[in-house]
Amino acid sequence: MDAVSPEGRVNLNMDGQPSTEADWAVGKSTVEIKNVSKAYGDEWDLDQVITNLDVTVAPGELTVIVGPSGCGKSTLVNLIAGFEQPDTGEVLLDGKIVTGPARDRMVVFQETALIPWQTTYQNVVFGPKLRGDLKGKALKAEAERLLVKVGLGEFVHKYPIQLSGGMQRRAELARALINNPNIMIMDEPFRGLDAMSRGLMQEFFLRLFEENRRTNLFVTSEIDEAIFLADSLVILSNKPASVRKVIKIDLPRPRDYKMLSSPEAYEYKREAMEILHEEAMKNFAADADSGDFAESFRKR
Ligand SMILES: Nc1ncnc2c1ncn2[C@@H]1O[C@H](COP(=O)(O)OP(=O)(O)OP(=O)(O)O)[C@@H](O)[C@H]1O
Ligand SMILES: [Mg+2]
Repeated sequence: MDAVSPEGRVNLNMDGQPSTEADWAVGKSTVEIKNVSKAYGDEWDLDQVITNLDVTVAPGELTVIVGPSGCGKSTLVNLIAGFEQPDTGEVLLDGKIVTGPARDRMVVFQETALIPWQTTYQNVVFGPKLRGDLKGKALKAEAERLLVKVGLGEFVHKYPIQLSGGMQRRAELARALINNPNIMIMDEPFRGLDAMSRGLMQEFFLRLFEENRRTNLFVTSEIDEAIFLADSLVILSNKPASVRKVIKIDLPRPRDYKMLSSPEAYEYKREAMEILHEEAMKNFAADADSGDFAESFRKR
């Protein structure tokens, strides 16, 4: 049996799990960002956003990118998704240069992208229907399976406005997953949710990831969220973004929120906070237009 059907879909068993070893290999792409730089604006008013950035998103891992607000995280997401091209360097997906968007890379953005006049179900089937690569009963069955999986089985006929923030994020996950992407890219998907919903969504998202370990790139500015989710934590500098440090997060899986209070998690947090604080201080110094000001603040 082929791992992928003619429509480019992975074969799943009755539990919605990949059925063979070859099936498990689907969704295990590698992304390599090699010496990438990106600037906006004109030559005389250049805004350098990313500079000489190197990151590898390893297959089957959850790589989390954390960085100060405005440092260039969404710009990096746009480069990997293929919405933008780097000025120098390259973005490779399984060794091939990314030249534009494709459904092998699905992005869930920080703002909701659900179509407001379509129901949850219609939103989920929208992409495959438009392309015509999954139709009829097969499409309906897959959409319903995913909606049940994300806990929205009872909400298929509701409109986005009738869903809570957390439900909207889960609908977006189903809408991305129906494309069976080789990599999921999440750009601060839980930003704006209240603390309790955010915590629950993190746990929910982890369960989904731990089920079949599809390659994931998750962007956040929240350090606890980053440590809780990550296999590999990439800490970015201030704008222009480059990699400050990569930390392997060796907390066991499956994870639960109690692990965040373990001594190991605390140590990861301390290390990451130290770097992020340093970056924030640099920003502060630049804003204040004086290194001395920052130095005196640090000594306080
Ligand atoms: N299309 C664009 N044209 C011009 N400047 C842009 C564009 N996209 C991003 N920028 C600039 O790039 C910088 C980084 O923006 P980006 O959205 O990538 O940061 P971010 O780290 O995702 O921020 P946040 O934490 O707020 O989500 C900002 O200064 C922004 O103004
Ligand atoms: Mg952003």
